[in-house]
Amino acid sequence: MPYVVLKFGGSSVSSLPSWRTIEAVVRARIAQGLRPVVVCSALSEVSDLLDALATEAAAGRHAPLLRDLEDRHAAHAEALGVDLEGARPDLQALERLALGASLLGESSPRVKARLMARGELLSTRLGTAFLRDRGLDCGWLDARDLLIANPEPGVRGILSAHCTHTLDPALVAELDALPHAVLVTQGFIARDPEGRTVLLGRGGSDTSAAVLAGRLGAARCELWSDVPGLYTADPRGIPTARLLRTLDYDEAQELASTGAKALHPRAIPPLRAGNIPLELHSTRRPEAEGTLVAASESAGTGVKAIATRRGQMLVSMETVGMWQQVGFLANVFACFQRRGLSVDLVSTSELNVTVSLDPAANDLDSQLEGLLDELGEHCRARPIGPCAAVSLVGRNIRSVLHRLGPALELFEEHRIHLVCQAASDLNLTFVVDEDQADRLVSRLHGLLFSDEDESLGPAWEETFEARQTPAPSARWWLARAEELCSLATQRGPLYVYDEASLDGAAIRLLGLSSVRQVLYAVKANPHPGVLDRFYRAGLGFETVSPGELRLVLERFPQLDRQKVLFTPNFAPREDYAFGLEAGVNVTLDNLHPLEQWGDLFAGRAIFVRIDPGRGRGHHHHVRTVGTRSKFGVSADQLPRLAELAKEHGVTVIGLHAHAGSGVLDPEGWRDTAMALLHARSLFPEVRVLDLGGGLGVPETGGAPLDLAALDDSLAEVCGAYPDLDLWIEPGRYLVAEAGVLLAPVTQLKDKGPVRYVGIGTGMNSLIRPALYGAAHPIVNLSRQGQPGTRRVQVVGPICESGDTLGWDRRLPDTVEGDVLLIDVAGAYGHAMSSRYNLREPAAEIVLPPVAG
Ligand code: LLP
Repeated sequence: MPYVVLKFGGSSVSSLPSWRTIEAVVRARIAQGLRPVVVCSALSEVSDLLDALATEAAAGRHAPLLRDLEDRHAAHAEALGVDLEGARPDLQALERLALGASLLGESSPRVKARLMARGELLSTRLGTAFLRDRGLDCGWLDARDLLIANPEPGVRGILSAHCTHTLDPALVAELDALPHAVLVTQGFIARDPEGRTVLLGRGGSDTSAAVLAGRLGAARCELWSDVPGLYTADPRGIPTARLLRTLDYDEAQELASTGAKALHPRAIPPLRAGNIPLELHSTRRPEAEGTLVAASESAGTGVKAIATRRGQMLVSMETVGMWQQVGFLANVFACFQRRGLSVDLVSTSELNVTVSLDPAANDLDSQLEGLLDELGEHCRARPIGPCAAVSLVGRNIRSVLHRLGPALELFEEHRIHLVCQAASDLNLTFVVDEDQADRLVSRLHGLLFSDEDESLGPAWEETFEARQTPAPSARWWLARAEELCSLATQRGPLYVYDEASLDGAAIRLLGLSSVRQVLYAVKANPHPGVLDRFYRAGLGFETVSPGELRLVLERFPQLDRQKVLFTPNFAPREDYAFGLEAGVNVTLDNLHPLEQWGDLFAGRAIFVRIDPGRGRGHHHHVRTVGTRSKFGVSADQLPRLAELAKEHGVTVIGLHAHAGSGVLDPEGWRDTAMALLHARSLFPEVRVLDLGGGLGVPETGGAPLDLAALDDSLAEVCGAYPDLDLWIEPGRYLVAEAGVLLAPVTQLKDKGPVRYVGIGTGMNSLIRPALYGAAHPIVNLSRQGQPGTRRVQVVGPICESGDTLGWDRRLPDTVEGDVLLIDVAGAYGHAMSSRYNLREPAAEIVLPPVAG
């Protein structure tokens, strides 16, 4: 009877439902005429505990960990309804090993291997008992009798050993002779030629299953974990990632090696060698389609998936001596070799060599420092990390290069440390700062994978429907859904601003201890009701036009004019005259006004807007620095400006800069402050540094701006320059989350595979999706809480194809009259609206808190 090897990972062996699934899968394979060999991992988290036990035991601190391990297995045995006594010898062995290590005061790799092996031994003892209780004729095998590791010197040979995977007729005959219908054994462990326990490295259960399949000449190998297969991207970050139905061995190998979690790279060679098909499945959704890897399964060219490996460390090596020098690379690589470090990616130029090291494969904690010292003899060596390696994997990757441009725009502001294109053209890898990886992957995924590609399997979120129920969120409108629905039904498209959220954002910014003055950038949302909240909270105002300035001054006649900044750009002379007349702080951002209208400014105190040289922000339209940006005086023109100021008796009392909008890096404002401090030497009267706005609000989830970190980084500036006041002038941060756009559904349309949901307003109310590709969350408020059933395009009534409010949104079944809510729309929503097509934009209201 042909063998099928079924491997179940940690989360697939840790509960009763998982074991019920295992039982069902085993029975199904038997029914197909196959003889299952079940390979199990240790229970979830147990390997980590055993790893810790190895260290802690050497310090005599093993007792609590042993207790924890026993408790977990006892609870598991109880859940499965089996007796823990069957596992007692393994628990006792653990205790003996830990005691031994504590007496010796050290724990060798051999002891660690023996300790860790007990995790798999324990899980299979309990699992076998369960299957037997269910009436299956089940034999338990010690994997160390099945897998013999090749001799390999050093720690690797003990903790990350390799086994021969060629067909072993003697082993087949031995197992054939056993009477059982199903055999259960352990992943991760093997024996070396001397009979000692060794491990196959983390993720080694996949390897065990593949090696065993090779040795038994199995008809198939199946890896069961909590994910159904390989996806176009890591579905934990990209829920719209699609299942890859089929891959050939090369593609699967490349994906596994570049970071796909569902498959260990060492599992492929044994299967490829034996031409054994591999299936991936999920115990959470056993009925769901999985991924098939087999020799004949390549599905055309192009990118198959985006894989990410986090926690990578780069070493950059620089020297002028390397140029045309023979042997430089050999010398530096010898340093890596001596320390047993394996290098993944390499890029070299005349003056620099950069390599990447994967901490999963290298002991960086103990080796990195020594390595850098040693390299120091040949070059200037510098570590860069933590980084993430983002790889496009597929065939003929070159063919998609031209499509990557928009995704790489991100790196106008963040560095790509290394790019590597495999000569095989199977992968193209970018190494970036780890915190940039998610944004890069999300943009690449959006560019490279279409919703309509029929060759791909279902999206992750479709298989795991539960993930779509919105995570518990603090969004204010959740509790007021009914009220908002009836408002939109009665009044049509409507912007609603929540007073409490406006107040909350103001309070958060007023709490920044290093900021002396918070000005609200009126352009983000000039609704009078919004301005009222901020006036009451004590904010000042930043204005950019006579219209904004007049609005503020007329509405708040008592407002201290020193708390108002007027920052026009390429404005006519009379605008400046108006600002000066009003007695507010006026900002110049060009030489022209002083050169041509010096008389107007004579004897005045002014602010100067400077180009800080480094741009930031969510889109290139909103980055306001550099020669391609019309804003600010560049550093080389500042001396001339200082001369002109002197000539006209003008005092520069404030320096101002705004680097861009939608910035989530909390250190950005300190960088701006540093740029302003450079300019300060020319303007000794300066007492205010206005660091601009730009405080970002993530639209599609993600971590919010870390205000405490922002405050800390500015505190350094305040500490060093106590005579200066720091100001900021945010718009978005104060209003974005307070506002939503509501609109009733007007019509539905199916066009090929695409479903359109039309609503009563479009880019005339909210132009941000069309202009910046902004992805505002959209929910069907009338069906709040219902799971999404279909991916739709949300569009408005404007005569432009760009009139789209959201692409690829999963909504519940939606009908005419439902109210859709577009979230995080309080900033630059109504403020940028128009009467295009002579359609009035959505009206606006400010919603007071619920009484009582
Ligand atoms: N200060 C100056 C000089 C500015 O130019 C701006 C925005 C701000 C402050 C306020 O920036 P905030 O804190 O809101 O990021 N329409 C784009 C945003 C354009 C921002 C223009 N200047 C959007 O919808 O994303």
